[in-house]
Amino acid sequence: MLIAQITDLHIRAGRNLAYGRVDTARALERAIDHVMALDPAPDVVLFTGDIGDLGIAAEYAEVADILAALTLPYYMVPGNHDRRAALHDAFPHAIPAKKGDFLHYILDDFPLRMIGLDTLDEGYGHGVLCQRRLAWLENQLAQNPLLPHLIFMHHPPITSFIAHMDALKLRGEADNRTNAGDNNGLAHLFRQYRGIVGVLCGHLHRPLHCVWHGVPVNVAPSIAHQVVADFREHGPAAFNMEPAAIQLHFWSPDLPEQGLLTHTSYIGDFAGPYPFFDATGALIS
Ligand SMILES: [Fe+2]
Ligand SMILES: [Fe+2]
Repeated sequence: MLIAQITDLHIRAGRNLAYGRVDTARALERAIDHVMALDPAPDVVLFTGDIGDLGIAAEYAEVADILAALTLPYYMVPGNHDRRAALHDAFPHAIPAKKGDFLHYILDDFPLRMIGLDTLDEGYGHGVLCQRRLAWLENQLAQNPLLPHLIFMHHPPITSFIAHMDALKLRGEADNRTNAGDNNGLAHLFRQYRGIVGVLCGHLHRPLHCVWHGVPVNVAPSIAHQVVADFREHGPAAFNMEPAAIQLHFWSPDLPEQGLLTHTSYIGDFAGPYPFFDATGALIS
């Protein structure tokens, strides 16, 4: 099974530039062209949040226009730049959740059981998995504890050492505005349910990987702009135009020992491909 992950689109209405600088609409068009050119085609495309930049209907209409070219099955979870009602109104087919509730859901039609999690705390940059959402997640995991599960959500639970982003990390409770950031409830579930093959996130606008409470956490770069890798304690919030990419996640029931395998696939026009020749000009097979 092949999963393509697209994250942190930050589309502005009227194709306006994000932060007055980034042509995010063009970046999305290029990402979709990139995905549609893949052979073999992905089985599914997962959008892990920050679909819009202000979370308004006009942005999602812009996204829908561009996604007309995406003819593969796709699903979405919200990021901190999204608003639930407007996102769900625009993409009900991509968010099979109950209107007016958290935008979390189960995808049962694939070899890997996938769980889309809603980590949005509307109006705030940080993420939250409150007790209600954790209870829902535990209920899903408990239904089929032996099946392999993949979770996808916007906010990673990990510490990235990029200070201004870590201030916006996932938190345990909606009423906790103090950034306790312990995520003990989620950690407990990860330790308890060993069938979770991985967690796919966005939000950090950089490719990051770590194992958190025994579960691989994979953060994909943005398809538009990236957060500067500044690890100073008071490093300023800043982005740059390092290469945009999607991630491609392979999962095979025949290779359970390697779990989820992730490729970062850069979007752009690069020289090559060139065949491998040796010094005499002979093709190396
Ligand atoms: Fe983002
Ligand atoms: Fe975000």
